[in-house]
Amino acid sequence: MIRWGILGTARINRRVIPAMRLAKRSELVAVASRDRAKAEAHAREWSIPRAVVGYQTLLDSPDIDAVYIPLPNTDHVPWTLAAIAAGKHVLCEKPLALDPADIDRIASAATAAKVVVEEGFMYRHEPMTATVVSLLHGGAVGAVRAVVSGFTFAIGPPPNTRFEPSLGGGALWDVGCYPVTYAQLIAGHEPTMAAGHALWHESGVDEEFTGLLRFDSGITANVYAGFRAAYRTWLEVLGSDGALTVPNPFRPGPVETLALERHGVVERVHVTGSSDIFVREIEDFEASVLDGAPAVVSLAESRRTAVTLAALHASAREHSQSRA
Ligand SMILES: NC(=O)c1ccc[n+]([C@@H]2O[C@H](COP(=O)([O-])OP(=O)(O)OC[C@H]3O[C@@H](n4cnc5c(N)ncnc54)[C@H](OP(=O)(O)O)[C@@H]3O)[C@@H](O)[C@H]2O)c1
Repeated sequence: MIRWGILGTARINRRVIPAMRLAKRSELVAVASRDRAKAEAHAREWSIPRAVVGYQTLLDSPDIDAVYIPLPNTDHVPWTLAAIAAGKHVLCEKPLALDPADIDRIASAATAAKVVVEEGFMYRHEPMTATVVSLLHGGAVGAVRAVVSGFTFAIGPPPNTRFEPSLGGGALWDVGCYPVTYAQLIAGHEPTMAAGHALWHESGVDEEFTGLLRFDSGITANVYAGFRAAYRTWLEVLGSDGALTVPNPFRPGPVETLALERHGVVERVHVTGSSDIFVREIEDFEASVLDGAPAVVSLAESRRTAVTLAALHASAREHSQSRA
């Protein structure tokens, strides 16, 4: 069994706690908050045996094997490193790091401490993602030429950590990481060119981001991330012989239907997924920790993601400065 602790009383815990309970080899032992009342209220609400004040106190607990880190983005690296130093395995929310050099530090520390560290991209653990990749790599649309993908949802006015530059806010890091990682998964490698354009919020974060990636294999990806339009996610893959349309690419439902169009004929491909999202992510993590299975999202992949996101950001900043 993995005995879990959670750092922070984040909203996303509502989805992950039930998954930890459904996963076969996990037990949720404690939740930590910076604030005693919040820790106690969260523990009560979710029937978590122990409420802990302070993240380090939880890391110092000998009865915890692994921690889930759903903190604001700039806290991912320091608390991942602190958890590794305490000998804990880590499942950290995306984006694991905003600077690729930090992934190298995490990887070295994790290797030395013999612990598993994985970035949380729930969609990567879903059967639909494997089906999409297998169809494309099997030539279902011919040679893949373009990926068109995005993730947008509307956020109310600040305060919200997503509008806070000092906490790593912004649409690209928050939701742009989804289409970027999916495009890299389809291409099988990192892009050789990344160009971005952002609409900047008055707080200083990118409120809307459009990016263009070019891959050596001849694939172009057009990615979009935003906080300004209602919730919508999309993924379409265009190839020399057809196109694949993927509904709910980043949070597949229990049953999804892909549309595979070849030479004008549309075939529907039904995929059965999880009825409870996040369970497969937790069970794959269990397999890495308890059985030594390779992480589904490796740190090498997380590094490629961080490199691409940083390049997109830099490009958008340059673009804005050259117009100013
Ligand atoms: N995989 C997914 O589908 C998914 C979905 C949503 C979010 N996420 C990721 O999960 C993470 C958390 O997102 P969320 O929306 O759930 O966050 P949230 O509700 O804002 O919670 C973040 C938690 O971080 C702690 N925290 C520490 N320093 C803080 C600070 N300076 N300001 C605010 N909170 C601080 C707080 O816990 P205490 O006050 O208890 O210490 C807070 O509850 C992000 O990295 C996000 O990208 C992933």
